[in-house]
Order: sequence, then C-alpha cells, then structure tokens
Amino acid sequence: MPGGVIYQIYPRSFADSNGDGVGDLPGLTSKLDYLQWLGVDVIWSSPTFPSPNADWGYDVADYCAVHPDLGTVDDLDALIAGARRRSIEVWLDLVPNHTSDQHPWFAEHPEYYVWAKGIPNDWRSVFTGKTAWRLDKRFDRRYLHQFTPEQPDLDWWADAVRDEFDRILRFWFDRGVAGFRIDVAHGLINDKLLRDGREYMRERPEAHEIFARWQEVAREYDPKPTLMGETYVSLDKLTAYYEHLDLAQNFDFCRAEFELDELRPIVEQTMREIPENRVPIWFGSNHDHSRMATRWGKGDERRHRAALFLLLTLPGWAILYQGDEIALADGKVPKSRVTDSARPPRDPERTPLPWTPSGEEWRDPWLPLTNTSRNVADQRDDPGSTLHYTRQLIEQRRQLADDGYETLPSSDGVWAYRRGERTCVLNMTDASAKHEGRTLEPWQGLIL
Ligand code: GLC
Repeated sequence: MPGGVIYQIYPRSFADSNGDGVGDLPGLTSKLDYLQWLGVDVIWSSPTFPSPNADWGYDVADYCAVHPDLGTVDDLDALIAGARRRSIEVWLDLVPNHTSDQHPWFAEHPEYYVWAKGIPNDWRSVFTGKTAWRLDKRFDRRYLHQFTPEQPDLDWWADAVRDEFDRILRFWFDRGVAGFRIDVAHGLINDKLLRDGREYMRERPEAHEIFARWQEVAREYDPKPTLMGETYVSLDKLTAYYEHLDLAQNFDFCRAEFELDELRPIVEQTMREIPENRVPIWFGSNHDHSRMATRWGKGDERRHRAALFLLLTLPGWAILYQGDEIALADGKVPKSRVTDSARPPRDPERTPLPWTPSGEEWRDPWLPLTNTSRNVADQRDDPGSTLHYTRQLIEQRRQLADDGYETLPSSDGVWAYRRGERTCVLNMTDASAKHEGRTLEPWQGLIL
C-alpha cells in the first residue's frame, strides 16, 4: 500500500517574493529547499488560476493561465521543474463544478451552465443558505450556484463541458502537473431533472463516469497523474468514490473531535471498507476548517503533536496544511479585515505563514499576521520543536510497512495499532499511561 505526504499550500499566504502582501509562485519556489528538508512528496496548491476572487481563486476565470497576483505560467513551469529536481510532485486544484461569472464562457457559452425558468426546486447555496437559483436578466432565467452567486455551476450533462475539461487536464499534464485535487467532487453533476432534495443536488452517481473519463486522460501520461477528490461525504459513502478516483478525502476523520472514541472507529471503518489496492488519506486541517493546532491541539502543543503522530503513522497518505508542521494556530482576523463570504468566515485558517519571529517577510499582508510566536526560523533552530518532530515523523514513517492497519489491545486512553512489523502506540490523554510495561507521557506517541 503506497502513500506519501502531501503539503497543502494556500498560495496567497505561503511566501511573498515581491513584497506586495500576497504570496506568489516565485515565493513558493524559493521555499522548495525547506519543503525538501521537511521531506514532503507532493505539494498541492489551492487554485492558481486567474480569478476575480469572489471565493479566493475558487471562482476561476481562465483554467489555462495563472493569476497575475501569483505570477505567470513560466513561474509555474519553474516551480514544477524545481520541485521535480527535488523529487517533489506538484498537484493543482481543479475547480470543475463551477466557474467565475467573469469566465468568458458565462457570456459566450451560456449553454455550459445549469438554467431554469423560475425557481425549480429547493436547492440551497452552501454559502448563503438561500435559494441556489439566481435570476440572470440577460435571459430572464435563473442559473444554479451551489456556492456564491458569482460561481455559476457548470452543466456536466453538456458534452462540450466535458470536452473543455479534457483539454484543460491535458494542458496541465503536458506541463508536468502530476495530479489534481478536484474541488467539490461530490457535487460535480446535478440531477438532470432538477428534483427536490439535497441528494439530487449533490452526490449523484453520474459523477463517477466523469471521473472515469478523466482517468482515461490521465492514463495517456506516464507516470499517470493522481486524481484526489474533495469528497465531502459521510464515511459510509466515501469508498464508492474510490472506484474512479485515486484518493478520496476523508472528512469524517478531519471533522471528528480529537478523542480516541471518535477517531478510532473512523479509522477502523475506513480500513475495513476501502477497496483493495486503494489507499486512505488523512488530514486535520485545510483552508476551509479551523486549523488542527486550534481545533485538535486546543493550544496544547503536545496534543497537536499527538495529532501529527496519528496522521503520519496511519497507513496511506497524509496531508499537512501549511503551518501544521509548526503547530500554527488559527489567526485572529478582526471583523474589518474579513474577506470571506462564507459564514463563519474562513479567514482565520488562511492567515499568512510566519517564517520569522519578526514577521518582516510579510509587508502589509492581505490577511493579518497576528501571531509569530510559532514560526519556521525559530523552530528550525530548535531540535526539540514541533517542526523537527514533524520532520522526524516523516522520516520514520518510511520504515512503516505498507501492509495495512490492525488495532491492538491497549489500556484505556491508549491507541495501539500494528503497522507491518512495527507497533504504534499513542497516549490520547492528559495523564501518563502504560503500554506493555512502558510509560507513555501525556499525548506521547511511540513507534515500537
Ligand atoms: C471547496 C473549497 C472551498 C470553496 C468551495 C467552492 O469546498 O475547498 O474553499 O469555497 O469548494 O469552490
């Protein structure tokens, strides 16, 4: 069972090369040595395409270009080449469910979108909670938007849309992009008859034939690029996505409390149900959720390290969101600086990554840099830091055999599992605990 470590970049907040307060691709490329030192296998960047930023890049205005705030296509080529020299793959974020309303298609190809006369059903926008059907005066018809009104949904029943995306995939695969995270994979296609009910807006079985088609495109390349779905579904529905996606993100795991009784059953069920020769994937943070240092760590760095231990010793893939490696907590964003239209706003998990204690590398950043006490430079100088702990775990995980997971008997509050020849034990409590004669400090994890 192969696997690796993916490092998720939120490009506006990762590293700023030109002092304009917005992270960019040359900034990211300048940090490749750091990412290589950390030991990651893949970087996945949130969207890098031109966008009016109604949803910070998740409203795409051109799928075959780079947002001028982030750089140029040449900069992306340089990133891919630099990463490749360090044996790191670059995956991009494909946003196929919707475009920006500023995408030329919305004016030139209205037939690419989902339309209705009047409000045809009870579908609601995830962001506004109101009807997902917006009146477009040009046609006196309404278009579907599962997210903001500036993000009209594409009509995946239209062959032309399917053809466009085949071209987009090839455009980036030809440039060396080694994979895609697929935004809103679970909501890609909507019921053709527009029937009432959330289950008709999302999680439609017809999405799978589209993923299968993308795999055909991917198979034209060697090595075959990876397709990872943002599969925002409950665990009992997750494994179906493995039929045609290489990886399906496990949101029940991410959203659980950091409690043994919550997480262990999720891991056990995932391992039981995942199809043979498919690989699980674990994460605790991303750009849409409160960071794991805050939500799981609750300010206690030992708890955060326990979470890193778990992510990095379970079988398969792990995703670290930028800052997880230094136990970065959610930023504090005053109301006047909130940029996100979702409620609650997701700005706190998107604040810039502090590289130094002074934060001088971020001049007037687009979101405030509120706390630099946990920063890369200090932690790199301190062998006892969470950054070094993360790096050691990434190194050690290479010794864990690929053959699955088995829960082992353990005392209360201790999670013990077999990974091939090795055993992982994690104390999930605030108190010392025992495992087979060994004492575990609170929240301590050991590979035996
Ligand atoms: C996904 C993205 C999120 C975005 C939404 C709409 O859930 O992760 O950031 O707002 O899709 O594209």
